[in-house]
Order: sequence, then C-alpha cells, then structure tokens
Amino acid sequence: MAHDVVTVHPVAALAGSPQLPADKSISHRAAIFAAIGQGESEIVGFSDAADPHSTLACLRGLGVEIEERQDVLEEDGTPSLFVSGRGLDGLTAPTAPLDCGNSGTTMRLLAGLLAGRPFDSTLVGDASLSSRPMARIANPLREMGARVEMTDGHAPLTVRGADLEGVTYRLPMASAQVKSAVLLAGLSANGTTTVVEPIPTRDHTERMLQFDVLEVGGERNISVERGHKIPARQFVIPRDVSAAAFFLVAGSIAESAIIDLRSVGLNPTRSGVLDVLRAMGANLRVLDERERSGEPLADLRVEAPENGLHGVEIGGAIVPNLIDEIPVLAVAAAFAKGRTIIRDAQELRVKETDRIEATAAFLRDMGADVEERPDGLVIEGGRPLKGVEVDSRHDHRIAMAAAVAGLMADGPTQIHGASAAAVSFPTFWNELESVAAGSVDH
Ligand code: S3P
Repeated sequence: MAHDVVTVHPVAALAGSPQLPADKSISHRAAIFAAIGQGESEIVGFSDAADPHSTLACLRGLGVEIEERQDVLEEDGTPSLFVSGRGLDGLTAPTAPLDCGNSGTTMRLLAGLLAGRPFDSTLVGDASLSSRPMARIANPLREMGARVEMTDGHAPLTVRGADLEGVTYRLPMASAQVKSAVLLAGLSANGTTTVVEPIPTRDHTERMLQFDVLEVGGERNISVERGHKIPARQFVIPRDVSAAAFFLVAGSIAESAIIDLRSVGLNPTRSGVLDVLRAMGANLRVLDERERSGEPLADLRVEAPENGLHGVEIGGAIVPNLIDEIPVLAVAAAFAKGRTIIRDAQELRVKETDRIEATAAFLRDMGADVEERPDGLVIEGGRPLKGVEVDSRHDHRIAMAAAVAGLMADGPTQIHGASAAAVSFPTFWNELESVAAGSVDH
C-alpha cells in the first residue's frame, strides 16, 4: 500500500483548525435509515471514510440507489448524498456477497436489518472483521427466529430470510452495534421488540428513528413495532468527536497549542472524552452549542493547559461513552503527572485489534510505564517518551494515537500501517501536518 509508513517528528507548538471527518456512527445509520425510508433522503456531509463507504456499497448491493452530487455542496465543500429509499420491502436480494470491509458497524447492523427480509444474504469482511465476535448478534437474532450461519462465531455470515417474532432482549455487553442490530430486526418482527440497556451506549439509532425509550428501574428500555415507518428526510451529519479526540489530546499534551475544531458532534453518549480530559486538567472550551438533525454539536477550542495534565481513574458507566477514544486517552495519561487507571474496558479487546494490548505495546516501546490488565491499563505518567517504530496492526485508532504520542516524543516515530487511518479519517495525516508543521513525513 502506498504511503504505508509515516514518520512523525516532534513539534512542541500546535496551532490551527483541522477539518474533521463526518461522524462515522451517524453516517452509517443515516445511510441505512435513508435506504429503508419512504422516498428520497439527502445526507449532508456524509463521511468520506472507508467504513461508511462499506455501508454504501452493501446498500447498493441490496438494490438501493445512492448518488453523490457535487453540485449540492455544504458550506465547506462536502457533497451531499442522495438516497432513494424504497421502504424496508424495497430491498432486493444481493447477487454477490456484501463486503463490509473493516467495518463492524456495517456487518452487525446489516445482519439485523436483513434477518427478517425474504431473501438470503452473505456478509463478508477483511481479516480483522472476520476475527471479531459475531455470536453477540447471532444469539439475539436467533431468539427472534432468524437463521444466521457463521463459522466458529465469525464472519462470513449468511443470513437467511425468516419470519421474526418480537422479543425483549437485555444486552449482556454495552454494545450499540448489538442494540441497533436487534432494533433493526425488530422493524420486521411480529409485535414489539424491546432492548433493555443496563449501561447506556451511543443512542444515534433511537434518536434518528424516534423509537420509544423508557427508563425502567435505572435501565433504558428501547422499543420498536413492526412496520415502524421511516419518513424520507434530510440528515445533517456532525463532525466526529472520535476524530476530534486526537487533536484534543495533542493540544492538551503540547507545550503550547491553540486548536479549533468546528461542528463536532457532542451527543452525551459519545462525549466522555471531554469529561475525562477536563478531569485531567485540560483546557477545553465548548462554543456555539447547537442541534442538527436531533444531534447536539458545538465548536471546540483546546489550548495547552498551563500546569499540564494529571492522572485520573476511568471506569464504570462512562466507558461506553469513550470506548473508541481510550487508546489516545492512554497517550494523554502517559504525558500526565501521576497514575491513570482505566478499568471496565474489556470490550477494547474485541475491536479492530486488541486495543488494550496494542496500546500497551506501543506506549511501552516508547518508554512509558504501562501495566496491562484484563479490562484496562494502569499508566504511571510523566516519563519522557522516545520515538520508535510502531506497528499499527492496521488499526486506524492505534495508528492515529501513536502519531499523537510521536508529536511529543524525543526523535522520530515511524508508524507502519499508517494508511489504516482512512478507515475513519482519510485526511488525518494532512490535518495533523496542518496543526504541526514539519511533523509528518510520508
Ligand atoms: C459503534 C459502536 C461501538 C464503537 C464502534 C461504533 C456504533 O462498538 O466501538 O466504533 O456505531 O454503533 P460496539 O457496539 O461494539 O461497542
């Protein structure tokens, strides 16, 4: 792959206004719900990253027409996507396997969507996705009557059309993908389907589809009825807070920094990274809070904190709200004074890579004091880090987290598998260079 090794050089002072990609989680959902909506929907500012494009490719394989129109531009030049929704019944049998690439959200949400359709579909993915657990969706879908075939709990998945019955399913792990898969299957299931969520996870699905949500004994109960109609509409996608996190941490560990981030999605089920950075002493400002398409967003400014960061404990209910940001929060912890303990994050072990192990490995190679635990990390911050060779293992968030560490390390950091950033943030290396001139060699 071209440019698969990027060298990051240290830069002490950061300044600028990097352009972030559109929110990945919201992009997937907007595309899927537009595809099964009644009529043409417009998605303004759809992500140009690889994962949401895997969802588009699969939807096209199900007969959905999707057009990118260059003539209809958002203020900053992002083309709009027009999706011709033909209702749930308008989806047609695919003539080839649906390729989900590296995207767990694509595979798990589509498995739910397709479980109650009257045709067979096969979902395939790359090597990483083919090693991730799929029993977590097959189990509830089978409870509903779905016919799901897989090998040893892994993709390829074959979903054979079946009549589904509504169920009440209590999530055994905090996973928005599993929640969304069951709710999407519920659109085709007899009666009512309810997902009980003991620990809240990202709620984009319920917001977008306006599903009923009840608080029962401190747990969220989300219900959908068969035939719930999805009107055609315009979706405006905020910028991805998970992409913002790399710059929030970079600005917080730099010697000096002023970084502005525009139109960042600040859904409270996603914005735990801001709370933790603030608790660590970061200097963050949230400006011009507003709402678009039912999702809160704002502009952010991060400046280097005068007294640096200090260690914190991260665990419990906040973990699902920052699960994807833990690798880069661990980088912040390595530069913070004192100890940071990250617990209750065992889900990180089944992401694109085992992110607990991968994060501990690159930080340790750089000279950090890191202890790996089954459900997290303990980091004694404050040791100087040195530039080394880092293997991203083709995990986008590991590549980008290591780059942020490299900005403040002593000497160059070579990141192998750097092109993986395109999975969620195709312009990451250019945007990093834009706030840290001279930092990126590729
Ligand atoms: C996502 C949910 C999370 C997250 C992933 C995107 C989603 O995964 O890590 O990047 O869009 O629903 P889990 O549902 O497996 O926790």
